[in-house]
Amino acid sequence: MKNLTDIIAPIATEMARFEAFFAQTLKADTEPMDSIMRYALETKGKRLRPILVLLGAKMFGTVNELTLRAATFAEMVHTATLIHDDVVDDDDRRRGHASVKARFGNLSAVLAGDYLLAKAMLLLANDTAILNEMLRTTAAMSEGELMQGAVGLSYHGSRNDNPNESGCHDVTALQTHYLDIITRKTAMLMRSCCAAGALSVGATQEQIQQISDFGLNFGILFQLRDDLLDSENTEMAQALLPVYYDKAWHTLEGFPPSEITFALRDLTVFCAERES
Ligand code: IPE
Ligand code: MG
Repeated sequence: MKNLTDIIAPIATEMARFEAFFAQTLKADTEPMDSIMRYALETKGKRLRPILVLLGAKMFGTVNELTLRAATFAEMVHTATLIHDDVVDDDDRRRGHASVKARFGNLSAVLAGDYLLAKAMLLLANDTAILNEMLRTTAAMSEGELMQGAVGLSYHGSRNDNPNESGCHDVTALQTHYLDIITRKTAMLMRSCCAAGALSVGATQEQIQQISDFGLNFGILFQLRDDLLDSENTEMAQALLPVYYDKAWHTLEGFPPSEITFALRDLTVFCAERES
């Protein structure tokens, strides 16, 4: 498995542009919000969502300002959900550092998350197609989290008593429900990232559909691996991971061979095998 830096080498300059745009957008005119935003920047994650936006754009065209806006929207929404999650879960650690709520308190964390969401929406206010795509997904994330029972708790479908005639739980129905939840809470945003990247460069409907199909399967694969890493829903995640690895891989077979297609393949392997 390649490391993430090597995988995204084909979009290294675009990533640098994203980082600059993201940092600029997060800037607040007042304290303490600006300090919180600087802290959010220092404690960065893998940047998978902006990576998907940039790859989705470069697959069909040239990264432009709208691409950077979409990538920034995605990372801001993602950051907001993590900051809020840590309040709900009362979690003091995030990305190997103190969580925003541990460092600045619950009130600051809730307001910082709200700030990020509002500023994210401002970024795309003039592009209704991409904003629509992204906001539908953002709403679905909250639904998925709530369906799960409570943010941060593992899926409790198996506690739900729906035994079939022989007294066994219907594994397929459980899997379907589990997949429905992880699709909403994680995979739809990743699908929208791919779609938004393609939309930003004027890709055709067919191209947008194709990259969206990849993003959805990739997103499910990502969350299955995430659950395995967190020892949550282990049995179901273990059973489904190879299925979604194949699905994600299969959707990439429809793309012409290019450095971007290869990057998406490497990213798929990375997501299936990553240790953090
Ligand atoms: C963590 O996402 C939250 C989930 C959707 C499972 P990431 O693993 O992409 O978080 P960072 O941004 O790299 O920290
Ligand atoms: Mg994680």
